[in-house]
Amino acid sequence: MNIEIPILNESQEQAIAEQQLGRKLYVETYGCQMNVNDSEIVQGVMHKHGYEMTEKPDDADVILLNTCAIRDNAERKIHERLTHLKYYKKRNKDLVVGLLGCMAERLRGDLLGEKNLVDLVVGPDEYRRVPELVENALAGDQGIAVKLSRVETYDDIIPLRTEGIAAWVSIMRGCDKFCTFCVVPFTRGRERSRALDSVVDEVRQLWDNGFKEVTLLGQNVNSYNDEESGYDFADLLAACAKAVPAMRIRYTTSHPYDMSDKLIETMATYDNICKYIHLPVQSGSDRILKLMNRHYSVEHYLERIAKIREYMPNCALSTDIIVGFCTETDEDHALTMELMKQVRYDGAYMFNYSPRENTKAWKMGDDVPLDIKTARLNEIIALQNKISDEINKSEIGKTFSVLVEGPSKRNPQEWQGRTDTNKVVIFPHDLDEQQQSDYVIGDCINVIVQRSSSATLFGVRV
Ligand code: SAH
Ligand code: SF4
Ligand code: F3S
Repeated sequence: MNIEIPILNESQEQAIAEQQLGRKLYVETYGCQMNVNDSEIVQGVMHKHGYEMTEKPDDADVILLNTCAIRDNAERKIHERLTHLKYYKKRNKDLVVGLLGCMAERLRGDLLGEKNLVDLVVGPDEYRRVPELVENALAGDQGIAVKLSRVETYDDIIPLRTEGIAAWVSIMRGCDKFCTFCVVPFTRGRERSRALDSVVDEVRQLWDNGFKEVTLLGQNVNSYNDEESGYDFADLLAACAKAVPAMRIRYTTSHPYDMSDKLIETMATYDNICKYIHLPVQSGSDRILKLMNRHYSVEHYLERIAKIREYMPNCALSTDIIVGFCTETDEDHALTMELMKQVRYDGAYMFNYSPRENTKAWKMGDDVPLDIKTARLNEIIALQNKISDEINKSEIGKTFSVLVEGPSKRNPQEWQGRTDTNKVVIFPHDLDEQQQSDYVIGDCINVIVQRSSSATLFGVRV
């Protein structure tokens, strides 16, 4: 067992903080929301050590890339980014470049040789050591810290969040599911949960600091377990919903195997728990699900969906699907299409299977040729777009409570917000004669939908 012990005592920490005063840190984040929250944790740690944050890599003394390893193309992106960073290092010889996250954990020391550029490599459970390793790098020493922990949850660290209305809150780390295709159990280690009280306190503080929405994060939130009290994920959701009744509460990701009746009933009970579930299915073929070690059948999955719809008829659903997993046939693929037609997801994230070294599936081979994978992928993307488009058309004429996020990216005259079902809504930003608006970012306003696309709803305020 790897119990985390404080690396530096307080006066040593203070001394380092004073030395670093005014040094600028730039962090770039790849991968999932857990990585986004981890970057905020690293920035929290570095801020405490006297670093200032910058959004411009040109101004930075330290550049950290928080990386992802989920598919080969995620890693390729990082290698390409490192090529660019070489120019920054040419301009500033003292620049420190570090790799954090899942790819750092997976490739470890191999990355230190990369383009003579990388000064430190730090895995997801060693972020407390980033200041020390950066300090060493500034003195010219390369460093690596990639030990995985059974206990680290960064419970006591306050993430440095950029201002906004929506916050990510990690409630657990790691994953014990070992789906055969997946690298996460190797890059993030064993599953462990934060204490319920600590999560509820953080959510309460976020509300006090002006946040209006939180998303509770874990690779498989349904197996959240506060070991001391025995509380499960449904208890945690209910506790958050009760503690801050006007805060919108979301979560991701659920595993279909552990999607309990209690959780569904709890979601239905509280108005401020958003009616949106991301429930990755991966495949519509029982044979493939078994090879993936997903622990559920299509029948079980559909029964869970039926239960969700019974309790929350308007709950939006999304999923993840992998095409071209080893031995996937046309028949398996047809079953996936069939399932998509049956469930009618509001949205889906769809991927070509990408073999990852050291996973069980790695040894099963990668026998579906790329052109077939891509043809299948295109087919399910087209099907999903058609379904999303039809579902969104059926929202026309309905009124939604929309949490206002601010100007839309395309046209600042228009603003955007989100429904509780997680749909983006675009609406004109109406101003009165004094050029004033009677709502601000973070308010909930009612919007009636007038038209839609497969990805977006468009409407006006009512
Ligand atoms: N914990 C979540 C998923 C995390 S990864 C869950 O179990 O649902 C996000 C998605 O990436 C997965 O749902 C899966 O669809 C996809 N994915 C993971 N490993 C992959 C691989 N090797 N190739 C292609 N897609 C993969
Ligand atoms: Fe990966 Fe499966 Fe864990 Fe999700 S549940 S992170 S897919 S091993
Ligand atoms: Fe990527 Fe790691 Fe998240 S592999 S998807 S950053 S858990």
